[in-house]
Amino acid sequence: MLDLELVRSHFPAFDSGKQPRFFENAGGSFPCRQTNDALLSFYDETKVQPYSRYPESAEAGARMDNSYVRWADALGVNETEIVFGPSTSMNTYVLAHALSSRLGPGDEVIVTNQDHEANTGATRRMVEATGATLREWHVDPTSGALSIEQFESLLSERTRLVAFPHCSNIVGTENDATTICSLARQAGARTIVDGVSYAPHGFCDIGAMGADVYLFSLYKTYSVHQGLMVLREDFADELPNQSHHFNASDPRKRMTPAGPDHAQVAAGSAVLDYVEATTPGHASLRDTCEAAKEAWQAHEATLAQPVLRWLDAHADVRLIGPTEAPQSMHRCPTVAFVSHSRSSSEICQRLVDAGVMASSGNFYAQRALEGVGVDPSDGVVRLSWVHYTSPADIEHLLAACEQALA
Ligand SMILES: Cc1ncc(COP(=O)(O)O)c(C=O)c1O
Repeated sequence: MLDLELVRSHFPAFDSGKQPRFFENAGGSFPCRQTNDALLSFYDETKVQPYSRYPESAEAGARMDNSYVRWADALGVNETEIVFGPSTSMNTYVLAHALSSRLGPGDEVIVTNQDHEANTGATRRMVEATGATLREWHVDPTSGALSIEQFESLLSERTRLVAFPHCSNIVGTENDATTICSLARQAGARTIVDGVSYAPHGFCDIGAMGADVYLFSLYKTYSVHQGLMVLREDFADELPNQSHHFNASDPRKRMTPAGPDHAQVAAGSAVLDYVEATTPGHASLRDTCEAAKEAWQAHEATLAQPVLRWLDAHADVRLIGPTEAPQSMHRCPTVAFVSHSRSSSEICQRLVDAGVMASSGNFYAQRALEGVGVDPSDGVVRLSWVHYTSPADIEHLLAACEQALA
């Protein structure tokens, strides 16, 4: 069970009784104290070129190395399979460039229209440039969900690659990534899973999931502004080097054309210290992450019920995505809706006036909005929360929604 008081004590945003009513977590979460401390101490103590022989430099390198090891342990993969880049968009861009040498006419690539543009735009452009064929896996126009049946009807022996979101940043429901990856693998296709909207709600065992690539953004998981990409070794071996020629055999460097941000790489795993501090008593970091995921999601689901029920029952509201997730999947608390009578930007302004930190717009998921018949120029109102959100925050939100939608 989640100790909310303990959790919140680790976030400077809640210091001295501050109570931000923060519902824009899907845009970027508050960093935990461990992240801020690690970043500052790197700058104070070891902000030099790493991996030389003098102590400050050796220490800088050791802190960076530690981050790779810790994330590998957390995600159930090898240390050589962790890649840090400036953002998920940049990681997918570089990946798409590398993949372009692997595809040609006759090959097929499946993408969805549920994705944030980061996980689909670069791949679509790459497919077009190579002469391969793009197959689009469409959301259900009413629910916004992706069905496994439709995926199976698109999959064939020609499919080389499948890119899909673990969870959409609009629809909010977890997709069954393990089943999708397994079906793709049986067909001989590689998988790229956008975990950006899911990872704030739990760090998964990517080894067990079976994804060839899994991406998420650390700035949405209580950490620094970097993208983390898991790139499984046997797939990495097939891809050409994207860095300087002499970096070709270095797994940390071959998918990052520019030098990494040393301080952020080093501080990037401090969030795992936070997870351990708030989820004690487990034998391994992997087990700790699993236990934290369970506790976070149970808390999030309890907070979600009254909001989803209230929005679903409101005559002026169209809720995008389901009120409940399919069995054993998480309904991530990324809740998007439109009003039938007012623009999303007007509703959002009313919420902000009532003290709620939220946003409206298309959130770079224009294709998903078009797929469910929403005009992307006005978009949706999006309310998103995570495990540090309190019942009092939700009460405040519901009162603000009453006013905004009166
Ligand atoms: C689902 C999803 N995928 C990808 C991205 C892109 O991440 P980044 O900002 O790290 O490029 C975002 C950003 O909001 C997102 O929500």
